Amino acid sequence: MEWYKVAFGELYPILYSHRDDAEAARAVSRLAPLLAGRGPIVDVACGAGRYLAAFAAAGLDAFGVDLSEYLLIDASEQRGLGGRLVLADMRVLPVRDASVGAVTNMFTSFGYFETDGDDRRVVREVARVLVPGGLFLLDYLNATRVARELVAESTREVEGAVVHEKRRLDERRAVLHKRVRVKFEGGREVEFSERVRMYGVADFDALLGDAGLSVRAVYGSYDLDGFDAARSPRLIVLGESPEEKHG
Ligand SMILES: C[S@@+](CC[C@H](N)C(=O)[O-])C[C@H]1O[C@@H](n2cnc3c(N)ncnc32)[C@H](O)[C@@H]1O
Repeated sequence: MEWYKVAFGELYPILYSHRDDAEAARAVSRLAPLLAGRGPIVDVACGAGRYLAAFAAAGLDAFGVDLSEYLLIDASEQRGLGGRLVLADMRVLPVRDASVGAVTNMFTSFGYFETDGDDRRVVREVARVLVPGGLFLLDYLNATRVARELVAESTREVEGAVVHEKRRLDERRAVLHKRVRVKFEGGREVEFSERVRMYGVADFDALLGDAGLSVRAVYGSYDLDGFDAARSPRLIVLGESPEEKHG
């Protein structure tokens, strides 16, 4: 089974317990004004809906798409987002052509596939569903900092489970590999390997360009300050669909 189907089920609240609603609400207070007034928003890979809930609270007409039934149930039951969720793969968005004002993809929910062709496919899908002049907001890791600060091995305890993680950078292919082992109370163990592409600004420029989108801005944090590869906590790319679409 693909790693992202294992990681984003019952393990997700354990592995990412440090990422919470307050972080999403703070980020959205800065992002929402960028995205408002263009039409509905689709948060691709919305997970348990923390950004989706914050977009909705900010008055945006936002919907979420995710592949994890487990996290979508959480989004529905814990955040009351039931009517706004669709279970789907981001490579084939269940959304009509040119019908969406903005697409968001938050907290490094991209670059998981074995081939770059699948990542290109996702961006082409985004381009397909955007209205002319629509926006694509992609919130990604800063590969330069991740590489520099990589911790090869670590162990932590979360809610009684022991999480052991080993990280390795394949510099030639620009892929970050993480081997994760979770040992629950009672002895049950789950193990999987995660892979994320170490895309940088030039890569996103090419990926978006391939899909007919242009890069309108590149930010380095949720405060929307300029991107600095050496220092920025995030790489946030704001893409734009052309005013006139062809084909
Ligand atoms: C790091 S989580 C982030 C979730 C959410 N954006 C957040 O910030 O809380 C990545 C999400 O990507 C989703 N995902 C992974 N592969 C996917 C795919 N092929 N299609 C749709 N969603 C996918 C996972 O199920 C998971 O919810």
